[in-house]
Parts: sequence; C-alpha cells; structure tokens
Amino acid sequence: MTYENDPRFSGITRFEKKIWLASPKMHGEEQKWVDEAIRTNWVSTVGENLNEIERQIAEKVGVKYAVALACGTSALHLATKLAGERLYGQALPNHGTLEGKRVFCSDVTFDASINPVAYEDGEAVFIDTEYDTWNMSPEALEQAFRIYPDVKLVVIAHLYGTPGKMQELRKICDAHGALIVEDAAESLGASYLLDGKWVQTGSIGDYGCVSFNGNKIITGSSGGMFLTDSKEDAEKVRKWSTQSREAAPWYQHEEIGYNYRMSNIVAGVVRGQVPYLTEHIDRKRAIYERYREALSDLPVRMNPWDEEKSIPNFWLSCLIIDEDAMAPSVRGDSDYLYETVPGKSSPHEILDALAAFNIEGRPIWKPMHMQPIYRSHAFITKEGNGRGRSNAYIAGSGIDVGADIFRRGLCLPSDINMTEEQQDVAIDIIHRCFR
Ligand SMILES: Cc1ncc(COP(=O)(O)O)c(C=O)c1O
Repeated sequence: MTYENDPRFSGITRFEKKIWLASPKMHGEEQKWVDEAIRTNWVSTVGENLNEIERQIAEKVGVKYAVALACGTSALHLATKLAGERLYGQALPNHGTLEGKRVFCSDVTFDASINPVAYEDGEAVFIDTEYDTWNMSPEALEQAFRIYPDVKLVVIAHLYGTPGKMQELRKICDAHGALIVEDAAESLGASYLLDGKWVQTGSIGDYGCVSFNGNKIITGSSGGMFLTDSKEDAEKVRKWSTQSREAAPWYQHEEIGYNYRMSNIVAGVVRGQVPYLTEHIDRKRAIYERYREALSDLPVRMNPWDEEKSIPNFWLSCLIIDEDAMAPSVRGDSDYLYETVPGKSSPHEILDALAAFNIEGRPIWKPMHMQPIYRSHAFITKEGNGRGRSNAYIAGSGIDVGADIFRRGLCLPSDINMTEEQQDVAIDIIHRCFR
C-alpha cells in the first residue's frame, strides 16, 4: 500500500510543485550586482562585489576581517590548516599541518566541518552531543581532554542554526590552550550571550567560517567566508586561496596554494542577499514557531535551544520523537525498515509520508562517529570512551546522544518559500503518522 492510498492520509492531495527542505529565495538585487560585474568586466576573483560582501559580513558578524572563498568547505580547510600551522609550524608540501595530531570535532554535523582535519593529515576524535542544543557536549569535551591532554585544536559546529554552549566550550579550550575553528556554516546571523555580551556565531572561535551554499540562510549559489580578527591570518588565507603567489614578477611559490577564491559574480548574488538576512531569519523563526505550536499535542519535541543565552537563526526546524512513541525501526548503511504502529511513528515513516505528497524532509545528519569512513576513529562521550561500550556479560550500554538524536529525530521542511497553507499540510501529515 502506498501512502497516497493509505486511509490515514485520505483527502490529502499530492503537491504538484515540490515543497523543499530549504531552497534559495531571490529578491532581485542579486541580478543587479551580477549584471554590474558583467557590465564592468569584473567577472574574475577581484571586484567591488567581493570587497563589499567582505566588509558587510565582517561588520554583521563582528570580526575585523572576512575573506570570501569558493565555499564553506574551503573556508574550513584554510581555517584548519592555519590552526595547524600556528600550532605545529609549516609542513612540507606533501604533508598536512596536522600530521600525527588528534583534533577534537563536533560529531553531529555535516562532514564538511571535519573533513579538513583529514585533508591536513590529522586524526579527528569525535565528541558526543548534548540534548540541550544538539551541539558538542562540554562534559564530553572535558572527558576528551582527560584522555588526550595534548590536543590543541577543536572544531565546533552550530547545528541547524542553533548556537552550541560556547561559553563552556571556550572555557575548557582556554584551560587547555586549544584553538577553536568555529563552523557557523548553518548559523549565520545567530547570536550568543558570551561573557554577558551578545555576539554572533562565527566570531567566537579563533577562526570562523560561514557558507553561502544554495540551501543556507542566505546564498551566493555557492560560496563561503573565512572570518578572523587577525590581519595577518586574513592575508595568509587570501594568499593561500589564490595559489600562494609570492611577490615576484613570475609565478613564484614558497607554500602550497589553492584555487579557493570566490568569484565576483557569485559575490554579486551574496551582495544582493545580505540585506535580506534578517528577513530570512524572521521567516525561519515563524516556521519554527508554527511547528512548535501545531505539534505540541504530539509526543514529539522541536530541536531545542538555550532561550536565555542564544538566538538561533532557525535555519532548519527539526523534531525528535519521544522514546515511548517510537515505532520499531532499523537502519542499514543505505536502507531502512519500520513498523506502522497506532499512536506511534518513526522518522522514516514521517519522511516517507511527506515524500509521498511531494514534501521534502531529511534525516538528522548522521553522526560522524557512525560514518563508515570514520568508524575507526575515537568517539568520546560524557562517560569517557564511547567505543566498545556494550558487553555481552553486562546488561545496558553507554550513552550515545548523537546516535539517539539521529535515531529519533528528523529535519522538517523549513523552506522560506513555503506558504502557511503548505506548512499546514506537512503538519497534518505528521499528525496522521501518529494515528
Ligand atoms: C555544518 C556545515 N559545515 C560546512 C558546510 C560546507 O559548506 P559549503 O557547502 O559551502 O562548502 C556545510 C554545508 O554545506 C554545513 O552544513
């Protein structure tokens, strides 16, 4: 039986046009700045659009310098490399700056946050998540420093636009002399109360990174930015991102280079979007609040945030199903199976039901410690080593918060182009999954 024929969903009509998880919203000014770049022939990796967005984003986030790059991943790579170089010195051209070094990393995040550790030949150690904000657990980070006291670099992401517990995380890192690469790819415009002062995510770590990928809160179609208060670091990243040319009449190179700079055309799209950042956040927040209100009668909760210490950008609205309302379900590496049980549901039942009516949701980002590529890497929970916790002779097993959120949670359609009526249909479908 398909969902469209399932009597639980009778009367609902499939949308002809797909309702997206998070799609771009253009406003018209993007075209103006792109046209301007073409008209004036500034179509390469220099130009007024680049200068302007670097100035505007630095000002918005509250850092002194911003360097526009091809994508958030390139910003994260150069931030990670810079941290490696600052900590351990310049590496040979065929070696990464983190060779032989461990780096503590957020676990429930997109892999682009932490792959740069591997690009730089480092070994990611994954730090478990906490339930309050779904971000890196300060308690687990403390445990990690107890087990690996020599670690000097921590990569922290703010999941779905919700700031993590940066006050606590920063304090722990400072106590161990560790640098922070802050991945604010999903959280541009979110703020956090640090030391009694409201600051923006992306300005809290030693290096900040944002993304203008097509699904982000504002977009350039692609693009990202490296953020810092250090002029020297900004200049270094700008140099690396344009093939590391030295000051010589010919192509002269003393360092490995990259072709990571943003184009002035992409920058034109970003420039057209920047004035709409607040409007996008307001719209995302309204979507979140509508879900929170409309789903309050179900055995689910929305993705949480610290209402006293943070204001998310509400990039993605998510829900997590109460344990006792979870229908049995299992996941393989690329497939899944679930039971339909009255009064209960599961992430894939909801996602399948939404998809049947042409509405896009998504599973929670699968934790990095569960990814096949990183299965051999250490994983630290607030209890200590998170690997090998079950015991054939002892009942019970260790806490794994990330795995639990992945098992019971899902991302809801959070598109700012979605109308209230369309959101109501999604809400209705979710209710019917629990019948
Ligand atoms: C948390 C996080 N980090 C990094 C990235 C990478 O950004 P980009 O796609 O711009 O390379 C993304 C999303 O794409 C992300 O969600």
